[in-house]
Amino acid sequence: VEWTTTERYRPYKEWPDSYIKKLKEQVTQSNWRLNYHIQPETGLLNDPNGFSFFNGKWHLFYQHFPFGPTHGLKSWFHLSSIDLIHWESEKTSIEPEMSYESHGVYSGSAIPVDEKLFLAYTGNVRDDSWERHSYQLGAWLTKEGDLERIELPLINQPPNGFTMHFRDPQIIQYEDRYLMVIGGQTDDQKGKVLFFESYDLKQWKNLGPLEINQDLGFMVECPNLLFIENKTVLLLCPQGLDKKTVDYQNVYPNTYILADNYSKEDHLLQHSEQQQLLDEGFDLYATQAFCAPDGRCLSVGWIGLPEMEYPTFQEGWAHSLSLIKELTINEGKLYQYPVEETKLLRQSQENLVVSAKETLVIQTENSYELQFKIPNQSKGEIALFSDELGEKALILDYDTENGTVSLDRSSTDYPLNSDYGYTRKVEITKGHSVEFTIFIDQSTCEIFINQGEKTMTTTYYPNENQNYLVIESDQEVKGTYYRLAN
Ligand code: FRU
Repeated sequence: VEWTTTERYRPYKEWPDSYIKKLKEQVTQSNWRLNYHIQPETGLLNDPNGFSFFNGKWHLFYQHFPFGPTHGLKSWFHLSSIDLIHWESEKTSIEPEMSYESHGVYSGSAIPVDEKLFLAYTGNVRDDSWERHSYQLGAWLTKEGDLERIELPLINQPPNGFTMHFRDPQIIQYEDRYLMVIGGQTDDQKGKVLFFESYDLKQWKNLGPLEINQDLGFMVECPNLLFIENKTVLLLCPQGLDKKTVDYQNVYPNTYILADNYSKEDHLLQHSEQQQLLDEGFDLYATQAFCAPDGRCLSVGWIGLPEMEYPTFQEGWAHSLSLIKELTINEGKLYQYPVEETKLLRQSQENLVVSAKETLVIQTENSYELQFKIPNQSKGEIALFSDELGEKALILDYDTENGTVSLDRSSTDYPLNSDYGYTRKVEITKGHSVEFTIFIDQSTCEIFINQGEKTMTTTYYPNENQNYLVIESDQEVKGTYYRLAN
């Protein structure tokens, strides 16, 4: 298919079953399909949506265009799980049906209310002159899995002074009311986070943009306000963020702002810190999080970025979601680490020792978890998705003396988005040991440094000979290798 506007916005009903069947066959041929990450059966996946706990199960949706690896007419695809690891497809997807969502059921969130799950999302509309309109819409999901749409928008249009880039509502309970947190843009192209409040989920009062004394680029996507332990955290995707505000290399960054508190009276984040990158790898965006009834604050992100090219585009599918992570505050800092349940994926365990100045070579199935403790004053290299010689690989370099970790994906048969650079660097505390937890899954890699103090999420597309793990270090290092399967 040539992805013209007509093809991208072709109504779902008009795609013949035979087309989907062929697409599925094509996807099955891929060598890069993932073992334990959420991926689309066909077509493109982007943002996680509606992550919640309802009716005894975890629910998670994602932005989906089922008919090809392109950003076309989006719907919500629905999954559920009892353990955050094994996900099953549910029958209800939210497909564009109403006039308010004619050009896409865009991102949003979910919150259980009484016996139902309330979903809030953006209806994307293009009019005859292809001008954008954005509506914040609502729907109820029943325990039986039926969808009951609310006919009229919860919020009909952006407030005065704001453009139609107005989307991705996050609904949270706050004291005796609900807050809706929405990404937006002022007429003079400044990114803002807008707040609305409601007592009944019907009447929504505009509280105006959150007061933040920080550059938020030209548009904010996917804002999330979270109360974690004694801190307030705002997750966001500020498009066009000035690199002087945050030094980043990806097309758009996923960032966070840590504050002491959200003050309702002044509508601001008290004692907020400077914005920081949520992830320092190549491919993480649109992270969504919520505080679950079990007390944990959980997040999930889209492994992929807007406007970038990936080699699976040739295979009829694109992208995945990250592992589910728990967000915690440790000595005033935000940590992100895969939930405890992730251990359910472990199939077998092997202790690894890399002797000083030697090279360890292990054949893998590119589906594993690796934990390594690197002592202070050591330098070394972990070649992931490596060929047997340790030459063609995704290379993680560390130098604990100088406090640097870097990830290099330049050595590959499938170069990715060269305009945005082939390396990402992270600073760690100088003169300290460092711990790595690395998850490898066919064409995806999630790296957690020091139990989640920093994370690096990245895609990498190996050829058929790149199924080794090669480790070299100038000091003895010890670790554990777990084979993972779903
Ligand atoms: C972020 C985003 C959202 C939007 C959705 C559309 O990746 O652009 O702002 O709701 O994707 O798929």
